[in-house]
Amino acid sequence: MPIADPAELFLEELGDVLYAERQIEKALGKLVKQAQDAELSEGFEHHREETREHIGNVQQVFELMGKRARAKKCPGIEGILEEGEEFLKENEGAPERIVDLFLAGAALRVEHYEIAAYTALLAQAERMPEPRIAELLRANLAQEEKMEQAARQVGQRLADAAVAAGAEPARGNGGGLDGDLSDATKDELLEMAKEAGITGASRMRKDELVEALQGQRR
Ligand SMILES: [Fe+2]
Ligand SMILES: [Fe+2]
Repeated sequence: MPIADPAELFLEELGDVLYAERQIEKALGKLVKQAQDAELSEGFEHHREETREHIGNVQQVFELMGKRARAKKCPGIEGILEEGEEFLKENEGAPERIVDLFLAGAALRVEHYEIAAYTALLAQAERMPEPRIAELLRANLAQEEKMEQAARQVGQRLADAAVAAGAEPARGNGGGLDGDLSDATKDELLEMAKEAGITGASRMRKDELVEALQGQRR
């Protein structure tokens, strides 16, 4: 039977977030080991403890609603976590900084999912007579938001480090850039030439575009 009562919808979504939190708690256990960056790894460890609190808080909300805590399979979070696992499997042996940068982004995806879930639940919870329900959900949301901030900052620091490290080898040999030009399609080259302000680019052949761009970069 379709849901007709908003309280029923609330319980359904509460079950969804309970399932998600349990999956996240497990995933964080793996991420702690996969992250090589100390701040990132410690962040995952810390958030794993918080995630256990989130599970407890959601269970308490069920109790306050007079219901048994029931998790509902959540394909949304499963998809996000699966995508992360797939990337790590496909990129085994990738440099640490690439993996860490990926993990910081994956953490952001998860946190945004949770933030959305709690924000939606709070819209209803804040209109319920029992104030503890909203309080518990708000406590979870606040920690998700803090984790989102932390992941964002680590990601920015890692991206800075990646730029600094990536620039090194190309500087010395000068030829590092030619490779990406010859791999580019004519449309891409045209785009690059326009961005670089090369005049007459639209009338150039592919090899002429490469030459003009190389001239610019030298
Ligand atoms: Fe959480
Ligand atoms: Fe979280």
